[in-house]
Amino acid sequence: RTVYLKDYTVPDYLIQHVDLNFTLDEENTRVVSRLTMCRNPASRSSDTSLTLAGENLQLIRVVLNEDNELGDKDYLQTPDSLIIHDVPQQRSFVLTIENGIDPKANTALEGLYLSNGMLCTQCEAEGFRKITYFLDRPDVMADFTTTITADRDRFPVLLSNGNKVGHGNLPDNRHWVTWKDPFKKPCYLFALVAGQLECVEDYFTTVSGRDITLQIFVEKHDLDKCGHAMQSLKNAMAWDEQVYGREYDLDLYMIVAVSHFNMGAMENKGLNVFNTKFVLARPDTATDADYEHIEGVIGHEYFHNWTGNRITCRDWFQLSLKEGFTVFRDQEFTGDRTSKAVKRIEDVNMLRTRQFAEDAGPLAHPIRPDAYIEINNFYTLTVYEKGAEIVRMLHTLLGADGFRKGSDLYFERHDGQAVTCDDFVSAMEAANGADLSQFRRWYAQAGTPVINVAQHYDAAQKTLSLTLSQYCPPTPGQPAKEPLLIPITTGLINKDGSPALCRLQDGEAAEQVVLQLTQPEQTFVLADLNEEPIVSVLRGFSAPVKLAMNRPLDELAFLLSHDPDTFNRWDAGQQLAVQVISGLIVDYQDGSELAVNPLLIDAYKKVLAHPWEDLSYFSLLMTLPSELYLTEQMRVVDVEAIHYAREAVAKALAEQLREPLEALYLKHHRDESGQFDAGAIGRRRIKNTCLAYLARLDADWVQHWALQQFNSAKNMTDQLAALTVIVNHPHPASQQCLDSFYEQWRHEALVIDKWFTTQASSPLPGTFEKVLDLLDHPAFDIKNPNRVRSLIGAFSQSNPLHFHAASGQGYQFLADRILELNSLNPQVASRMVGALTSWRRYDEKRQGLMKAQLERIISTPAISKDVYEVAVKSLA
Ligand code: ARG
Ligand code: ZN
Repeated sequence: RTVYLKDYTVPDYLIQHVDLNFTLDEENTRVVSRLTMCRNPASRSSDTSLTLAGENLQLIRVVLNEDNELGDKDYLQTPDSLIIHDVPQQRSFVLTIENGIDPKANTALEGLYLSNGMLCTQCEAEGFRKITYFLDRPDVMADFTTTITADRDRFPVLLSNGNKVGHGNLPDNRHWVTWKDPFKKPCYLFALVAGQLECVEDYFTTVSGRDITLQIFVEKHDLDKCGHAMQSLKNAMAWDEQVYGREYDLDLYMIVAVSHFNMGAMENKGLNVFNTKFVLARPDTATDADYEHIEGVIGHEYFHNWTGNRITCRDWFQLSLKEGFTVFRDQEFTGDRTSKAVKRIEDVNMLRTRQFAEDAGPLAHPIRPDAYIEINNFYTLTVYEKGAEIVRMLHTLLGADGFRKGSDLYFERHDGQAVTCDDFVSAMEAANGADLSQFRRWYAQAGTPVINVAQHYDAAQKTLSLTLSQYCPPTPGQPAKEPLLIPITTGLINKDGSPALCRLQDGEAAEQVVLQLTQPEQTFVLADLNEEPIVSVLRGFSAPVKLAMNRPLDELAFLLSHDPDTFNRWDAGQQLAVQVISGLIVDYQDGSELAVNPLLIDAYKKVLAHPWEDLSYFSLLMTLPSELYLTEQMRVVDVEAIHYAREAVAKALAEQLREPLEALYLKHHRDESGQFDAGAIGRRRIKNTCLAYLARLDADWVQHWALQQFNSAKNMTDQLAALTVIVNHPHPASQQCLDSFYEQWRHEALVIDKWFTTQASSPLPGTFEKVLDLLDHPAFDIKNPNRVRSLIGAFSQSNPLHFHAASGQGYQFLADRILELNSLNPQVASRMVGALTSWRRYDEKRQGLMKAQLERIISTPAISKDVYEVAVKSLA
């Protein structure tokens, strides 16, 4: 069944108050839900029945207004609802529902479930209906009071949203706790956690002087890995006060880390539930990337308190209202905390590889989709990452001050409401007196626009004409596209490398200008130019578009040396490498020798010679475009040609720049305990970039360096980088290192995830057989999503060479796992289908093999709607 945005109607009933009573047990939890409800005056329906959503619930009884126990004839139970035939229409009423649930049988990890002995919930998007019958939709906002009763030994800690208002002991070694959340919320923000948890506590004083207690709950063994998460939370709280003027609103902020979690984390009011991956870190167990992601996700969930919780979504089609905005906020937070240049490049890299692929494929959808079968399938890169780019464009168009005025107005207008993307844009418009009607198309239109740029210099007039055009290819259900408002930040550079000022007719001269492209084709004239400058277009990646500018290699090399915009400087190097590698791909396919253009070597040599301050940025400049990015640039993807052409370039760089790479490695190879500061992170990053290049030399001495680093590393960044080099290139100690790594870390699940990923990602022959063996390893557990992602996800999504083996064995392997996961955890199963959806991009033989697996999946009886939707749409 498909749900459509156009069918939205207001709820027929409202819930003012929810009083929940849980009697916890691993296999038989009792829920008593007392709902104070009334007819919604805004509803236009004349139906006097009430339909509540509910799935997998054992209904025990239904009571209307305290004493009227309803019988079979008063209601109808369906597999996904409870319909009460007649409820009071004129006054409010109380509906009490008692039901049983089995958390242990819940392997889908949605609703109330068991993870390492603790009970926890995940309700977004529609998990609350697996706890009790309810109006499970985000525009029904209520006050929640939650009482939890449980055994004191198995569940000493009992948590829910808001403030703890009562607790006590009961006979038979039982106890109870009552929580009250003073803020109205939709049920997707409800949370309950119970178990043998230990807690780290700290506090934060808000700008207005309120003291907030901060608690992070983990399993005892992880107490020593909470420091970074706690510091991140304090940083996020301070940042939101400074940048958005937003203060925290409850007296308590709790975070719980759980081992079994479908996604990254969840912003439940006052009680965030996190995947352990985004909380736990110690220098010896977590990499620098992990540290950064933890701070980012902690920030993300914290920022949701205003963008998501205080103001929520009217319906799930508006998901990007909270996710796009909150991702934008967490990106800016991380940029401020680390390196703005590096963060921007990392985000764009992800967007241009994964999101652009989604936008060009059979599952393309606008950031505000207009139909879905299963909403969990729409927690996508498009809704999140492209959604963040749309918000970023508003920031670019309105300026930081204008954007802040707009967000202030948005918070003021809509606090406590469930609203739409359109309400957000309207607030931005109203606060700035702007007209964003054309901009709104970004919310409705899918696909990645392609921008063409033509330039003409008029020496007599001293003007440069830039003619920009936009074209967006059709996407499923959208054959024709309307032109968008696209901000294109542009700068000019003189031939001697100095910046040239930009002045549009009757404008002020500035270092750069934001060209507002609104037409299919439009010419902008820049004046006062004594010579023809080199243009730097789409600075900072100011719009989520593809720039089609086939620039000569020497011009790209020039920009790599001179562009003051850190993003475009890096991107020039990427485009240069893409062109060189693309040429080699053709040579590889022709069976010709792979000779690397010396211009590229020379460009990298210059990068190596420059005195960089930000070593992380330097490392990115030294990194070749990924195989996935190269995949995006090819018409018919040839995974082998991509791999070997890219490797040829990497090897040529290693051979010809061996001296500076060696020197750089040795310069930064010091023993560092793994502090999370920009200097140390940068040193590790550039050093490990050099090691990965040098490993291409297949020389004894490099093997020795890698082994040495592996054995002496004091932090996970260095240890894992060395292990990766050892596993990705022939190395005599490879198996020995894997074994010792396993022994060293067998009690740290998150490190063992890395152990699986490293092996599943290796380009060496035999990787597929290794992956099959690892499936049978005692540490593999298909019921744990992190493990599934670390083995099956890594192999299918990050190892194109082996996953796309011509035999089709990778495809069959993946389909087998998807079918196995389908009955256990449909959400995770559906994510795994992603690797098959791009089948049209491959040669005919692979197309047939991939399609056959998709067809096998959809014809399987009892296929979940999650998996079905993705598979069926990708075949359409
Ligand atoms: N709102 C959460 C976040 O962005 C994601 C939860 C999504 N969960 C799901 N099962 N779809 O942080
Ligand atoms: Zn989010």
